[in-house]
Amino acid sequence: MERVRVLVIGSMNMDLVVQTPRVPVDGETIVGTAFNRYFGGKGANQAVAAARQGAKTIMAGRVGRDLFGQDQIQSLQSEQINTDYVVVDDKHASGIASIILDEQGSNRIIVVPGANGAVTKEDVDALSPVLAQCDVLVVQLEIPIDTVLYAIKKAHGLGVKVVLNPAPANSLPEDIYKHISVITPNESEAQLLTGIEVKDLSSAKSAAQVLLDKGVEQVVITLGSRGVYGLTKTNEFHLPAHKVTPVDTVAAGDTFTGALAVMIGEGQSLEDGARYANAASAIAVTRHGAQPSIPQRDEVVSFLRGV
Ligand code: RIB
Repeated sequence: MERVRVLVIGSMNMDLVVQTPRVPVDGETIVGTAFNRYFGGKGANQAVAAARQGAKTIMAGRVGRDLFGQDQIQSLQSEQINTDYVVVDDKHASGIASIILDEQGSNRIIVVPGANGAVTKEDVDALSPVLAQCDVLVVQLEIPIDTVLYAIKKAHGLGVKVVLNPAPANSLPEDIYKHISVITPNESEAQLLTGIEVKDLSSAKSAAQVLLDKGVEQVVITLGSRGVYGLTKTNEFHLPAHKVTPVDTVAAGDTFTGALAVMIGEGQSLEDGARYANAASAIAVTRHGAQPSIPQRDEVVSFLRGV
């Protein structure tokens, strides 16, 4: 089979992760247990997830002219990801994410976008030679929203499938939904987009139906420990979460979206693609770091076989 071609337009961050027994209260200083630096950013994480599932992957976005940016580009290249369309921005520093990770594997994240906030429509136009040749465009909301909307419309106009991970949560204009092939919100993102509080399968179904009615082709809502709910015009499914012991949930959603995009590009149904992506993200939460936690395809296949 020909390798699926995936283009990711989005953010690249250096994740600065502090592990702590608990989160300090206002005015308090406590002693953490570890500090690590990992390559992250929702866009770059999704590109790595796509590449590790075997897609020919292009990453587009902006980094600063600094060490973090240079390291991120090198790291993406070491994954065989094409970085020809990563702009090195002279005016802004590379994006960073300050992450507090507690002993349960839960996290609190503050992102300072830096160069990610400077990705423009012109950057998207510069992708014209490759966009039409891609099978899937993957986008998130960690770069300027106007740029994301422009890229979505352009890709859809060219017949390229569009996978949108609407994270971090932000509202979207009503006219964008009809250009989206697959949307992958979590519970709080689904709530922000639909006004429906997603707290169980029945509310997930109502929220997914609202997104379908707005014009999205296929909806998958990730429900954390409750697994994944999917809805299309002809199918509805719930996949329970795999029973694993999480140590770090950073990039679990990115792993899901990147892996799902590859499966959709390969022509799999939403349900089969989500089953695969659900396994990929289950593996990711058992490992530390954003990009280091993302599994290769053979690991996901073995996990699904129960090997
Ligand atoms: O989704 C996880 C990512 O969000 C982290 O890697 C961090 O960089 C933030 O962008």
